[in-house]
Amino acid sequence: MRAGMARCFVTRRLPGSALDRLSAVHEVEIWPSNVPPTTEQLRAGVADAQGLLSMLTDRIDDDLLDHASRLRAIANYAVGYDNIDLAAAAKRGIAVGNTPDVLTETTADLAFALLLAAARRLPQAIESVRRGEWGTWEPDRFLGFEVHGSTLGIIGMGRIGAAVARRARSFEMNVIHASARERDTIAPLLQQSDFVSLHCPLTPDTRHLIDAAALAQMRQTAILVNTARGPIVDQAALRQALIDGAIAGAALDVTDPEPLPAEDPLLTAPNLIVVPHIGSATHRTRERMADLAVENLLAALDGRPMPHQVTVSN
Ligand code: GLV
Ligand code: GLV
Repeated sequence: MRAGMARCFVTRRLPGSALDRLSAVHEVEIWPSNVPPTTEQLRAGVADAQGLLSMLTDRIDDDLLDHASRLRAIANYAVGYDNIDLAAAAKRGIAVGNTPDVLTETTADLAFALLLAAARRLPQAIESVRRGEWGTWEPDRFLGFEVHGSTLGIIGMGRIGAAVARRARSFEMNVIHASARERDTIAPLLQQSDFVSLHCPLTPDTRHLIDAAALAQMRQTAILVNTARGPIVDQAALRQALIDGAIAGAALDVTDPEPLPAEDPLLTAPNLIVVPHIGSATHRTRERMADLAVENLLAALDGRPMPHQVTVSN
């Protein structure tokens, strides 16, 4: 290897040309499969790597880092980084970076698409046309809920939450918000909202933030939208709330676990939309995320701060 060249392990092929820029200056191994590496395979990949470009599906914990004695930089291909033990990385002096901003509007678009689809029962309506059930126009088929004039409760008014709020205001919704860090703001929001959209990170504090008690505080006509992280919602409690009609619907881009097996009991619940973690999935955004992840790695391997470095406290 040339002087200054580092070994990098990249756990998935990425859209666009960003990885070519990495390969131009470093020795890069790209995991060749669409099936994520197992723990063993990840260990082998990082064994002599100085840089790691990881997906949100890769668990990077103390144990893995014990097998990565040369690692100096981890660039996660996501804005979220709950798959990485930040303290374990920090104590080894390993920089960790994420891909914020470029996916904010894209993810907000999906959250709003889910909100609209659930409110107006689009999946059920589309399915019924395909099944040949469009017999005649009926006054009471697929009655949904008004979006304009309703109240949207946003939990986690960060970048993505604020982008969803902007969309909601132009739909003439009344927007309220609460923070998972101020627990007493949550109950009033749940009680007042026609739609509740989650935009907080997954932390020990937000795991099962939306549990049976929280769902019981929501309106029977309310719809829950989750484009954040699956474990923020207690999925068994959500299933029961949908079955009981305690809430009117849910639309999820994220589940617990992921992938959600086809036989998962959640999928038997009524008034439920699930899509497979596609919040940032546009051609342009996934390419820009690759650009940011590569910029993060290049900087850290060059001894500079990552442009988007995350720290233990945030
Ligand atoms: C996707 O979920 C991300 O965190 O980027
Ligand atoms: C979270 O990272 C956000 O962008 O809101």
